[in-house]
Amino acid sequence: MRCQRLDPKKPEDLAKAAQLILQGELVAFPTETVYGLGALALNDSAIQKIYEAKGRPSYNPLIVHVASANAARELFKLDDDALFWKFAHAYWPGPLTLVAPKVDHIPALATGGLDKVAVRVPAHPVALELLRLVGQPMVAPSANASTRPSATTAEHVLHTLGDKIAAVLDAGPTEHGLESTVVDISVDPPVILRLGALQLDSLELSHAKGTEGSPGRTDKHYAPLIPEIRWATREEMASAPSNYALLTRHRIPGSHIQEVLPDNPAEYGKELFAALYRLEQSSPKALWIEGLPKEKKWDTVRDRIKRSLS
Ligand code: TXA
Ligand code: MG
Repeated sequence: MRCQRLDPKKPEDLAKAAQLILQGELVAFPTETVYGLGALALNDSAIQKIYEAKGRPSYNPLIVHVASANAARELFKLDDDALFWKFAHAYWPGPLTLVAPKVDHIPALATGGLDKVAVRVPAHPVALELLRLVGQPMVAPSANASTRPSATTAEHVLHTLGDKIAAVLDAGPTEHGLESTVVDISVDPPVILRLGALQLDSLELSHAKGTEGSPGRTDKHYAPLIPEIRWATREEMASAPSNYALLTRHRIPGSHIQEVLPDNPAEYGKELFAALYRLEQSSPKALWIEGLPKEKKWDTVRDRIKRSLS
């Protein structure tokens, strides 16, 4: 399949994207976190195409995207929705995904057979406009082949999925560069299932232990195609062979293949996945990643890197 590159500034291109989705095709689109691979959420054959295109195991559930908190509320079966509205009012539209028991008409295929569904209202104007044009919920995992880094540009969508999807809406690099924070609100206190772009320090929350409650966390993820990937100190990096790639926060002298990212977690997170794809392009023998400060604000970035290590 040849993937069409669509321009979201053109109303006819947005209409085309919505039309393809309504026909059961896959269309990648920008969100404020990373690019999503969109398909009809209530249509088994469209959902099946997502798992096939990504090479994703069918037990790893998808996030359902909608254009408003009211539309999200309709997808959950909740006796008490106080927590739902607390989070919805505070953070939507935005990089937060809520998990709670699903209504019956959400296909089991979308939730990997679980009784709970994950839902979010993205903040990107193109995502919201596309959802409005489609007029129904869309599933949208990150728009990358399974195990690879998430795509933060249309180029990186095309790099791993270009021959498997109908179109991509190209709105340039995404704002956060890291995926949404996933919170299960069906338990009190709510549980963070995946750290993400939204920092939730101020709320009463607990953290899932290991892979508890979040099937996707068992798998290898976010990995560039480089034979060996590990943490390293600056001292080790200074004597690394020159065909090794380095991911640092301050330049290491020498002729290494090197990406220097900002010494600030939000800026670092924004550029991380794109930097991993760039490093992979130079086919290094190994990738050494400079250790990160042991502060909470670096936890999301640290989580993504840990899961990409060999
Ligand atoms: O920012 C994001 O969340 C992006 C954009 C496109 O919205 N999407 C995204 O989707 O990152 P994906 O499929 O790459 O990651 C979804 C995560 C996985 O870790 C999955 O296991 C978890 O959400 N998840 C989805 N449904 C779940 C459920 N019902 N219960 C627990 N975890 C769930
Ligand atoms: Mg993903």
